[in-house]
This record gives sequence, C-alpha cells and structure tokens, in this order.
Amino acid sequence: MSQDLINEIMVLKKQKNAILLAHNYQAPIIQDLADFTGDSLELAHKVSKIKANLIVFAGAEFMAETAAILNPSKKVIIPSTMVKCPMAYMLSPKIITEYKTKYPNAIVVLYINSTAESRAFADICITSGNAVKVISSIKEREILIGPDKNLAYYIQQKVPDKKIIPIPDNGYCYVHQKFQPSDVRRKKELYPHAEVIVHPETEPAVQDLADKVTSTAGMIIEVSHSKSKEFIIGTELGLLDRLRKEYPDKKFIPLLNEAICIQQKKITLYNLYLSLLYERYQIQIPSEISNHSRRCIERMFQLS
Ligand code: 13P
Ligand code: SF4
Repeated sequence: MSQDLINEIMVLKKQKNAILLAHNYQAPIIQDLADFTGDSLELAHKVSKIKANLIVFAGAEFMAETAAILNPSKKVIIPSTMVKCPMAYMLSPKIITEYKTKYPNAIVVLYINSTAESRAFADICITSGNAVKVISSIKEREILIGPDKNLAYYIQQKVPDKKIIPIPDNGYCYVHQKFQPSDVRRKKELYPHAEVIVHPETEPAVQDLADKVTSTAGMIIEVSHSKSKEFIIGTELGLLDRLRKEYPDKKFIPLLNEAICIQQKKITLYNLYLSLLYERYQIQIPSEISNHSRRCIERMFQLS
C-alpha cells in the first residue's frame, strides 16, 4: 500500500513538474521523497530560487507561507490544514503594536515561526540559523524579539551589547519546552562521552548545560565536524531520523522520547498524495500582507 502511494506521488510530482520541500522534522519517508530537506533558513533560501510552478511544502504552515510570500506568482500547497505551529499564534499584530507603543525606539525582529500577518508588522525576520548574525549586524540597540522567549535568551547571550525584549514575555514551543535540566543531567550520566546539542527553543537552563546550541541544520553541521561518536540531541525526533540515516556510524540519543511536533507530523504519505492529486491546500495570503512580509524576509537575506 505505501509503495503504491510512493509510486503515485512520484508520478504526480513528475507529471505536474512539482517540487517537494520538507522540513527536518518530517517523517523519514517524506524526507526521502522530498527534492530538498532542510531547516527553516535553508528552506527559505531554496524557495527564493525555485523554477517549478507548483511547490508542495511538507512542514509547518509558517514555512509554506514563506514560500508563498517569496513566490507570489506560483502555487504553493500544503498537504494538511493542521500544521499550524502553536508558537506562531502566541503573537499577533495587536501584541506587536502594544509593545511598539511601549518601546518606540525599538526595532521589531520576528522569528520566522510567526504568521504572515505578524510578519507584516515586523522590520526584519530571523531564523534560529541566522539570528545571531542578523542581530549583530543591525545598528539599533533595543530589539523586540518574538514569539520565542527562549530564542530571545539565546540571542541575548550571544549579543550582550543589545537589549533584547521578548514579545510576548512568555512565548514558547511546546515541544522544546518539555526538555528539563534534569533530562540533560540524566542522559549525561547514562552517556558520559556524548556531546549535548540542543535547539535555541529550549529553556535557558537547558541551553546552559549543553555543549552546543544551534538550529537543526546547525546540528547536522556540528555532527559532521565533531570528533564525538555519541550525541544527545535536544530537538524534535524527526531530526534524529535524518542524522541516523546520514551518519550510520554515530549514535544519536534523544534528550526525550516525547519530543514530537504533533502539527508537523500531520503530514502523511496519504495526504501528500491527495495534495498533489487535487493541488490542495493552497496557501493564499492577501497581497498587502504578503508585500509587507516579503520586505522583512528580504531584509533578513540581505543581513545574513
Ligand atoms: P529550524 O529552523 O532550526 O529547523 O527550526 C524550526 C522549528 O520549527 C523548530 O521548532
Ligand atoms: Fe512550532 Fe515547535 Fe512544531 Fe517547531 S517544533 S513547528 S516551533 S510547535
């Protein structure tokens, strides 16, 4: 059954000259079928150069929105309507406006994990892969960063001369928030030679205990350069699937077995097949919002 679906997906992809992009948290079979798999930054770069007229996005809704914003003349579809990242919805244009009134001299920098509507109210976008580089290169000292308070903490550690203000003050990713310092200590006791790599969406106390804090693509680079043979990985389990496939001689230990993004895992072979067949569900963003959001993504590209 699943081999039939895989064959159908490959035929439809070819027939329709579609490109399939997948995020690192997707199931292994979806990653295998994809033309390109990466972190949010790599995917944003990739979509800015796409020639195909049909883009199928296996990832969170905000990633597909980025593809649609950067390709207004192309059709961007997503296999499920249930891939809305809860953290992206912790921030709204209303909250941004309130903070802007409170901090009139601050610049608004939004994590790409934000809705297209919120990004239309931002000056610049960042991803976990380029946040430090972008923030270091802007002249403003006071910076409102949302929606992830943990990413804001990570940036503040790396760029201490800036004043980083998280907006809202308690935005977080429920998957990464599950990791506790006690999980790191326990796993380190079990695997004393392992290198600990965590995502900047983890809590400050977890980041402080790690050997390396970086994006999902940064984790792959770290593994490829490191002399270690064992790694404790603090992010969603899909990335461990990719690491195990690419580095079969190394051992990858999840910081927690429960680190699963329910939203991203809503994408399946079956809804991917239906998505290609019926060219659904199309991402449609009103042009005014799309034009404003595009500016803040393009500024990110310029600065990184
Ligand atoms: P990356 O850009 O590091 O892949 O992270 C995206 C994301 O949604 C993390 O939860
Ligand atoms: Fe959103 Fe967290 Fe899922 Fe990433 S892992 S898409 S931040 S809920």
